[in-house]
Amino acid sequence: MILVTGATGNVGRQAVFQLLAAGADVRALTRGPASASLPEGVEVVRGDLADPASLDAALDGIESVFLVWPTLSADHAAPATIEAIAKHARRIVYVSARGVSDDLEQRPGSILGSHAHVERLIRKSGPEWTFLRPGGFAANTLMWAAQIRDSGAVRWVHGEAARALIHERDIAAVGVRALTGSGHGGATYELTGPETLTQIEQVTAIGEAIGRPVRWEELPSEVALRELVSQGMPAAVAEGILHAHAQMVTLPESVTSTVEELTGAPATSFRRWAADHADAFRPAT
Ligand SMILES: NC(=O)c1ccc[n+]([C@@H]2O[C@H](COP(=O)([O-])OP(=O)(O)OC[C@H]3O[C@@H](n4cnc5c(N)ncnc54)[C@H](OP(=O)(O)O)[C@@H]3O)[C@@H](O)[C@H]2O)c1
Repeated sequence: MILVTGATGNVGRQAVFQLLAAGADVRALTRGPASASLPEGVEVVRGDLADPASLDAALDGIESVFLVWPTLSADHAAPATIEAIAKHARRIVYVSARGVSDDLEQRPGSILGSHAHVERLIRKSGPEWTFLRPGGFAANTLMWAAQIRDSGAVRWVHGEAARALIHERDIAAVGVRALTGSGHGGATYELTGPETLTQIEQVTAIGEAIGRPVRWEELPSEVALRELVSQGMPAAVAEGILHAHAQMVTLPESVTSTVEELTGAPATSFRRWAADHADAFRPAT
């Protein structure tokens, strides 16, 4: 039995489908089973990673875990939750993040600091582990969906920032290999898409996918910061994200070949991702 956390999210949902297709017994963790809409054949269990006492039913009888961690929001509970998982699981595949370093202590309260903290707890916990360290998710561009549907434009910052965005399906595919194959214990895998595209090029690709052009309108950085904070993001986290994008204008994210090496298939292009998600960007008819 493989437990998938974050099973209703971008990567976890893909992991559920791919594990079922591989013939595994799959249990999905969610805080809201009623609205989870997961496929038939998966056992859906209620639980909260921020509340280790709520996880007994989810952990009972499991062999391994595909762990998506609710970054920052559950960090206070991480030591007890990882300890509880380690009492049951023999293998943990953890969706960490690119930029986490094996050596450096990273700042608590930041996204990378959160992942570094969880990685350290897993390393010490006992089960065999594999860390997936993906770069930016293609799914991040869904934050532009409402603007594109409503106005055919994206107002955002650092249009020339170039990223090697990755399809959530590819992250899950590597995770499924690590869970169902052998030889992945103690490995850390840096995962990216197959090419870098600037944010302006990403928006153009979304326009091609929906069959109508989408404009880019550059916003001042301080306006973008106010928007992120007004959506509930801590100011320090928002500043970190905007700073990283400013750097990617002159220093594009590099591309790794890890997805292809591990799955045997090239990583999925952003254009393909946009085609897969075109409905999210199309105005309602
Ligand atoms: N976005 C990026 O560019 C990027 C890059 C590298 C790494 N990452 C990492 O990838 C992970 C996010 O993956 P994602 O995009 O697939 O997530 P997502 O779509 O945002 O979904 C988050 C999932 O976490 C679950 N969740 C939230 N709080 C929970 C809690 N307290 N207990 C149990 N489950 C909880 C939610 O499930 P329910 O609501 O059903 O409970 C949901 O399925 C994060 O750790 C992030 O830091 C992201």
